[in-house]
Amino acid sequence: MPRKLENFTIVIFGASGDLTARKLMPAIYQLGKLQTLPERYRIVGIGRTKYDHEQYRTLMHEAVTRYAPGLVEDDDHFKVFSQNIFYLPGEYCDLETYKKLQADIEAVENREGFCDNVIYYLAVPPSLAGPIIQNLYKAQISGGSIRCIGWRKIIVEKPYGSDLASAQKLNSIVAECFDEDQIYRIDHYLAKETVQNLLVFRFGNSMFEPLWNHRYVDHVQITSAENFGIRERGLYYEETGLLRDIIQNHGLQLIAYMAMEPPTRLEADAIRDQKIDIFKHIRRMSPEKIAEDVIIGQYDGYRQEKNVSHDSKVETFAAIRFFIDNERWKGVPFYVRAGKNLKEWITEIVVRLKPLPYKLYKHISEHAEVNKIIIQVHPEERISIRFSAKRPGEEVVLDPVLMDFNYKKSFEGEWLTAYHRLLLDALAGDQTLFLRKDGIEECWKIADNIRAGIKKCGLQPLIYPSGSWGPEKSDKLLEKDGFKWRLR
Ligand code: BG6
Repeated sequence: MPRKLENFTIVIFGASGDLTARKLMPAIYQLGKLQTLPERYRIVGIGRTKYDHEQYRTLMHEAVTRYAPGLVEDDDHFKVFSQNIFYLPGEYCDLETYKKLQADIEAVENREGFCDNVIYYLAVPPSLAGPIIQNLYKAQISGGSIRCIGWRKIIVEKPYGSDLASAQKLNSIVAECFDEDQIYRIDHYLAKETVQNLLVFRFGNSMFEPLWNHRYVDHVQITSAENFGIRERGLYYEETGLLRDIIQNHGLQLIAYMAMEPPTRLEADAIRDQKIDIFKHIRRMSPEKIAEDVIIGQYDGYRQEKNVSHDSKVETFAAIRFFIDNERWKGVPFYVRAGKNLKEWITEIVVRLKPLPYKLYKHISEHAEVNKIIIQVHPEERISIRFSAKRPGEEVVLDPVLMDFNYKKSFEGEWLTAYHRLLLDALAGDQTLFLRKDGIEECWKIADNIRAGIKKCGLQPLIYPSGSWGPEKSDKLLEKDGFKWRLR
C-alpha cells in the first residue's frame, strides 16, 4: 500500500550537476507519473549557472530523455510536470541566495498555502555541505523557527566528509542546525532491492542463516566493477579517489549487511546499531599489512581525462582483504574489489562455503563440493546457488549447476531505482535506509586507517589496462589464500 505523502517542496542544491540530471530528476518525474507524489509539490533547483525557469525546464527535459530513455513517452506530459520546476541561480556560500530562497518559499506559502513542507537535497561536493547547512540555519529556514510552517528535512549525498575529522566537523555543524531526525545521509546502495533483500535472505530463511558464519563460510567476495571511466567527474575524482568514492561507503555497507547480527527489531536504529557493531570489529591494519592486503590501481588513460592532473596518483581501483574480528567471522576473509574501466559492469557478492570434510567425489572432480551463493546487485538483481549435480548417464560425472532466483522474473510490477525509494522514504520520514552519524564516523575510521597506511608504506596505484579486471596483483590477494575471484 503506497504511503500517503504530504505536499512538499524539494530544494536541490547542485541543480545543474550530474546527479540531478542522471538520477534525481528522472526519479521525481517517474514518481509523478506513477502518481506516488502528493497532489501538490514543487522542485526548486539552486545552482551557480544562470538559467531562468524555462531554460532550466528545457535542460531537465533533455536530461530525463537522455538518462532515462523511454521514460518521457509524451513531451506534453513532461511540459505539465515541468510547471512544478523552478530555478534559483545563486552562490552556495552567499547568504543572499538563502534569503531569496526563503522569500520564494514564503511567497508560495502565503500565496497558495501549500508546499510548506521543505526537503533540502545536497547534491554537491562534500566541501560545500557545511556552508550550505549553516546558511540555511542563518536564514532561519532549517526548521524550528516561526518562518517555517511545515516540516524541514535535509538529504546529504555521499561522500559525507572526506575523512573522519571533516565528517565529525560536518556532523557537529548539522547538529547545530538540524535535529538528527531531520537529516537523511544517503548511500544509495542501501536502497537497492537486492541489498535490502540481504536481510530477508539471511534472517527470514532457516535454510541460510545457520550457514552464515566461520564454521561454513570459507570466504566472501564483493565486486563492484564498472566498464566505464570517471565520466565527466575529473575534478571530483581527483579530490576523492575510489577508496573514498566507493569503498568507504558502498563497499563497507555491503560488508555490514552480509556480516551483521540480527537486529533486535526491524527499526532503523536497531538495524543501524548492528551494522555499526560490524564496522567496529573490522580489523585495523598496520602499514605492513596494508602493503600486503591492499592493492590500488589506476586505469591507463585516467591521466588524460578532463580535469585530471597528468601525473595524478589518484586510485580508480582497489582490492582489499578485510577481516572481522568477532565470534561469527573469525578467520573468514572478506575480499572487496571495486574499480572503474574494468571488464564488466557488475556488482556481486559471492559467499563460498567450505568443502565437506570427507571428499567422497574428489577423485571425480576436484571442486565437486564447493558451493557458492552468488548475490548479484547489478546488472540483474538475482541470487544464484551453485552446487554439484550428477550428469545424466551411466557414469558418475559431477557438473556444477545453478539454482537461480531473479527478481524481475519472480515479481511483477513497476521497477523503481534506489533513488525513487530514498526520496519516498525521506518524504515519509523513514530513516532505515539512511546512515546515522556514528555509522559514518566508524566507516571513516576504517577508510582513514587504509589511506594513512597507503601513505606510510608508499603504495602507488598500479596502472591497469582498460577493459581488464584491474592490476594482476589483485588476483594474488586471493591466490595466496588458495582462492580465486569468481570473475577474472
Ligand atoms: C556513486 C559513485 O556513489 O555510485 C560513482 O560516486 C559510482 O562513482 C556509482 O559510479 C555507482 O552506483 P550504481 O548505482 O550505478 O551502481
